Parts: sequence; C-alpha cells; structure tokens
Amino acid sequence: MERLQKVIAHSGVASRRKAEQLIIEGKVKVNGEKVTELGTKVTGTDKIEVAGVQIERENKVYYLLYKPRGVISAVSDDKKRKVVTDFLQGIDERIYPVGRLDYDTSGILLMTNDGEFANLLMHPSNEIDKTYVARLKGIPNKGTLRQLEKGIKLEDGMTAPAKVKMLSSDKRQNKSIVEITIHEGRNRQVRRMFEAIGYPVQKLKRERFAFLTLHGLNAGEARELTPHEVKQLRTLAETGSLR
Ligand code: URA
Repeated sequence: MERLQKVIAHSGVASRRKAEQLIIEGKVKVNGEKVTELGTKVTGTDKIEVAGVQIERENKVYYLLYKPRGVISAVSDDKKRKVVTDFLQGIDERIYPVGRLDYDTSGILLMTNDGEFANLLMHPSNEIDKTYVARLKGIPNKGTLRQLEKGIKLEDGMTAPAKVKMLSSDKRQNKSIVEITIHEGRNRQVRRMFEAIGYPVQKLKRERFAFLTLHGLNAGEARELTPHEVKQLRTLAETGSLR
C-alpha cells in the first residue's frame, strides 16, 4: 500500500505537493470514487484518475546489471541467498530480471518493471542473440564444435544453429575458452550443449545481449539503459534488425 499523493507524483503527472493539492480540490478518483483525504493508501491495482485521466502507475525503468557469480536471478529467495535486486538498491520501481542466468553464471542481465518489454525480449520467435564465453574442461577440435554450429540434440530437442569460436586453449592445463552465440533461452542451455559434446563448462559468463556489452561495468554494478538502447532493443525484437 502506498500513499495516493506519492503514487500520483511517481506517475509523473504532478509533483508531490501539486498531487496533494489536486486531491484536496477533489480532482482525484480512486476506482471511480472521488477521494479528498490526503492519507489515503492505494494498492498496485487500484485505478487512479487525475482530472478525469487515468494515470500510468510507475515509470518504466530499464537497467543492465553485471550479475556476479553466486547470485540468484530472482527478486527474493527463501534460502536467503543473494538475489539480483540486491545490486539495484534505492530504486522505487519493482524491477525484475528479463529471463535468467544460472546461480553460477555471471554477466549481462537486463532488469525492468516493463512486462511487455520483458516478454518481447524473451519470446523465442524474436531470436535475440546472446553471446557467452565458456571455460571448458578439455579442448574440443573444430569438428566437435561444428556439431554445436549445426544444432545438437538435447533432452528437450534440437538446438538452433549456434555461432562458435575457439578463443584460446591451454594444453598443459587441458582447458579452453570458447565463445558461443545462441538466440534460444532454454534452461542451462549453454552448459548442456557443451556437456553434450563431452566438454563440461567450468565457468560461464554472458558477455553480450543483442548489441549490449558489459563495457564500463564491474561485477555487481549496473547502469540504466538509454532511451535509445531501449528503442533499439524493441526494434530488434520486433523486426529482427535495427531498422
Ligand atoms: N546457459 C546456461 O547454461 N546458463 C546460463 O546462465 C545461461 C545460458
């Protein structure tokens, strides 16, 4: 429950003081009933009208978080583990992650309170590219990696073709670093893909989400997306390209 004047002010239609004035003047209705009492509390689903116009309840906000390893992609956890919203404190809006990264995966995670936008980006048919860098146990050869490029059978079906690039390998330590780009978002997909070719992932980081990178951020840091980036992400999801 929040105070009516605060909700009106947050919606951007008036300052807190002006909102109080509008309430006193009888210009505000909650669920169709005029309200003139300043202390009135409202819930997230109450319909609020100011001078006959329904307000948008919250500003839509968009953040890019560099999720550290050892953090749950959720807004709360009953086992009291760290959650991604712990890294975005001081934000009034009720934001949540767009999709998820595993507890042990680090990297780009978008956070928003715009459900329509989140659904758009997560919808499988919109095919947003996500690039991961994986440290593997062992060194797969070209032919083996080619299986991932073609699509590989997992227990929940064939994967779509991926882009795969060997970045480095260390024979002595028997490990390699491989970059992989996929546009699907199945549960633990990258880990399962490498497992399927016999090279388990030891460490995983999402370095890119569409055209967005982690540039300028350390693990645990976040920044707001610019309005232009939000617009470009929408365009990309809706049309498959940036124009
Ligand atoms: N694939 C995975 O295996 N884990 C993630 O967190 C994201 C993609």
